Amino acid sequence: MIQISDSARPHVHLIDHPLVQHKLTLMRKKDASTNSFRRLLGELSSLMAYEVTRDMATQDVEIETPLETMQAKQIDGKKLVFVSILRAGNGILDGVLQVVPGARVGHIGLYRDPVTLQAVEYYFKMPKDMQERDIIVVDPMLATGNSAAAAITRLKECKPKSIKFLCLLTVPQGINTLHAAHPDVEIFTAAIDRELNDHGYILPGLGDAGDRIFGTQ
Ligand code: URA
Repeated sequence: MIQISDSARPHVHLIDHPLVQHKLTLMRKKDASTNSFRRLLGELSSLMAYEVTRDMATQDVEIETPLETMQAKQIDGKKLVFVSILRAGNGILDGVLQVVPGARVGHIGLYRDPVTLQAVEYYFKMPKDMQERDIIVVDPMLATGNSAAAAITRLKECKPKSIKFLCLLTVPQGINTLHAAHPDVEIFTAAIDRELNDHGYILPGLGDAGDRIFGTQ
């Protein structure tokens, strides 16, 4: 069985808060309805947003409380971009935007060419001034790691200040592939499952995240 490489391990952040783990368990169940799967993903995404933004920069601003003037901390949410890898990444957006409503949103769509097996971009839309922004790439499943690595390679052309990757589930193989391609990218996940099956699905996993979010099974 593949293990997480020693070099990747320090870059993986397991979000093991009991609420996150509880909601993930409910989502994994095969009889969870589309409605509850989507709602749980939203709730989980909000909880994970706290962890992934933990080191976000704050600045001191002067404000007036009803009693006196004080220096208080404020974030600039507009500097943050959540980038959804289509289509399942969109399931994470609502939840993270509840926590950082001022954040901008980008979308990237890739498919695998069946002949060359290379990732081909079919959609790419980002906010302007990406050089000034921190990116959090969102996709529920970091499986083979190939599309995540390709998406981040493309995003780096925009020269953002930093890139993090947020997912629900991953496996050692996906972590190793993404880390080998992008050792500077920190990976945040709610679980590290056992392995991939022959079709690239995570085991035990939760099935096809896109189908479960959008009810397209
Ligand atoms: N994508 C999914 O939606 N599920 C998996 O298990 C792997 C990739």
